[in-house]
Amino acid sequence: MTTLDAHAASHYHALTHTNMGTDVTVRAIRSEDKYAILDLYPTLSPRTLYMRFFRVIDAPNLEEISRYTDIDFATQLAFVIELGPSKQLVAAGRLIRATEQSKVAELSCLVVDDYQNKGIGSVLVRELFEQGRYWGVEQVIALVHSENHPMLRLLKSQGYPCEMLYDEGEFTVTLDIHHEPSSDNRFSYRSSLGAMHQGI
Ligand SMILES: CC(C)(COP(=O)(O)OP(=O)(O)OC[C@H]1O[C@@H](n2cnc3c(N)ncnc32)[C@H](O)[C@@H]1OP(=O)(O)O)[C@@H](O)C(=O)NCCC(=O)NCCS
Repeated sequence: MTTLDAHAASHYHALTHTNMGTDVTVRAIRSEDKYAILDLYPTLSPRTLYMRFFRVIDAPNLEEISRYTDIDFATQLAFVIELGPSKQLVAAGRLIRATEQSKVAELSCLVVDDYQNKGIGSVLVRELFEQGRYWGVEQVIALVHSENHPMLRLLKSQGYPCEMLYDEGEFTVTLDIHHEPSSDNRFSYRSSLGAMHQGI
């Protein structure tokens, strides 16, 4: 069985493409990415920041950003997406787990505003789930704002068994990534009664 240890995860690099045919590079986050991320923060809309952090946040400083870039790949699997010859950084996401042995991880991700709705988030999450499985994760949990329809669609369409529980304006989405994704699972999900009234 394929496995991804912390060292291999920290060197992960893959060329792939979005469902619209755009070539992208998916690679492990690096310490030096903190400078590009620092420059990107002021370009992010309040809505994007709110959907990611569930609150209004001030732009973080370099030291705060380094918590996302200078990481232990035993407990965090963090990837970025680069575009084109300039290697423009347009998205970042991670799975984070309590210990190296834990089979449950929490997902977070962000695509910069100008590149949203172009299939980039889907590629990022697909790669995180696929490599996350090799890394040892069987279940992924994501907390998603109930108005974050792109993220909810993205998660439901990955092809993994998916359960969504609604409470107080947010969904806890649980995905079983233990097995290969299957088209049988696309848009097949279980949700709480509250979720069904959200019209998603
Ligand atoms: C949520 C987010 C990661 C999605 O990434 P993306 O690159 O914009 O999404 P994609 O283009 O891959 O599209 C994903 C799905 O959402 C749909 N979608 C994307 N943008 C949409 C929009 N504005 N309105 C409606 N549907 C949309 C796509 O059609 C696609 O559906 P499909 O899987 O059935 O084809 C990105 O929009 C983002 O970073 N948002 C702000 C931060 C955030 O919400 N992070 C997640 C926190 S849990």
